[in-house]
Amino acid sequence: MIDHASLYARALLVAPGGVHSPVRAFHSVGGLPIFMERASGATLTDVTGRTFIDFCQSFGPLVLGHRDPDVHVAAVQALDDGWTFGCCEPYSLALAEWIAGNVPWAESIRFVSSGTEAVMSALRVARAVTGRSLVLKFDGCYHGHADGMLVKAGSGLAGQATASSAGVSAAVAGETLIVALDDEAALDRAFDTHGGEIAAAIVEPLPANYGLLPQRADWLRHLERRCREAGSLLVFDEVISGFRIGKTGMAGLLGIRPDLVTFGKVIGGGFPVGAYAGRRALMDRVAPAGNVYQAGTLSANPVGMRAGLAALTKMETHDGWAVLERRAERFCAELVDGFANLLKPLCVVRQGSIFWIHTRAAGVVRRPDAIPAGNAEWFSRFFHAAIDRGVYLPPSSYEVGFISMAHDAQTLETAAAALIDAAHAAEAP
Ligand SMILES: Cc1ncc(COP(=O)(O)O)c(C=O)c1O
Repeated sequence: MIDHASLYARALLVAPGGVHSPVRAFHSVGGLPIFMERASGATLTDVTGRTFIDFCQSFGPLVLGHRDPDVHVAAVQALDDGWTFGCCEPYSLALAEWIAGNVPWAESIRFVSSGTEAVMSALRVARAVTGRSLVLKFDGCYHGHADGMLVKAGSGLAGQATASSAGVSAAVAGETLIVALDDEAALDRAFDTHGGEIAAAIVEPLPANYGLLPQRADWLRHLERRCREAGSLLVFDEVISGFRIGKTGMAGLLGIRPDLVTFGKVIGGGFPVGAYAGRRALMDRVAPAGNVYQAGTLSANPVGMRAGLAALTKMETHDGWAVLERRAERFCAELVDGFANLLKPLCVVRQGSIFWIHTRAAGVVRRPDAIPAGNAEWFSRFFHAAIDRGVYLPPSSYEVGFISMAHDAQTLETAAAALIDAAHAAEAP
């Protein structure tokens, strides 16, 4: 009989840690990873035939849910017509026009195959445009695994970073400054000391990789101001928030225009697509228009382009962002009600269709060092209790949950009841 343990034992022999992206190994929550075989709408089904309501949704791309019928048709048509040409084609043109038509600060767009590539390339453009080498990032934001983004705070006061992964050279890490979120003074110190050397500041305007850490609009405006004064580019990494938090992402919600923006996840409809975009004058530095080299064999692959456009236009015609807002609001309100009876009530943080549950904290958690001690241990218990009750959450206390258009009212009611019950079960270790 097929089972998770034997599949994992085999996987360990042929892949590092048995996986192709670390969090899938369940190291953060303990236990054996579950091998999933099929997915549909709001659910995942494992190799033993068990079905779960899925709030991971492949870590965010599936804003319509698994195997949405319209995205399916678009992808199958793309397969029928040819799935990669390595030539000019009309499909990336259609998606680029749709994005440029809806996101005014994305005048010109380059498609790549992942969020990591998008960030790496946007920062290359920023360095070329400014002739500077430093990039400022924030502790608590994740921007993919390009070397310069795999850094943690060093010992210096004004943000000097050190590598957070083996294999990243000290020289590369030294070109990144790292500053705390939600801290104007720390930002000022970095800009006062290094302003003239900073090519770009990159930020997730809604940090969603160390839990969900909503930022004060005032702080983000302060960041924008310091960038403008220093002549540094402001890069919004909207790989998660783009086309999930409304059609114009966090930038639209905040009314802040970034110089460059990175996208991923939702824009590919669940296929490997990333993009970086910005004002034409900046993007015209990219080859072949300009001298910033960046290329990709499978960039703008027609399957992702057609699936992405199908997903975005469906969201638009169904008023999807408003629908998700209402459903997510109701779902989270139910959780809050149910969690209120716990001995130690939990907190539910939400922005649009993204949510994060954590143990009680004194106030709004805006930076990783404010996450309550013991949250990870509690989450392991909660995660497994949820699994036992048929709900699959992303397998780490730092990952956020995603609600899709396939999570209808009935599904969300069932899931809320299961999660409330799981929270009671997880309370006593
Ligand atoms: C904000 C952000 N930027 C960049 C990335 C990297 O994207 P990818 O995993 O497609 O390389 C991620 C991935 O989760 C992300 O959340």
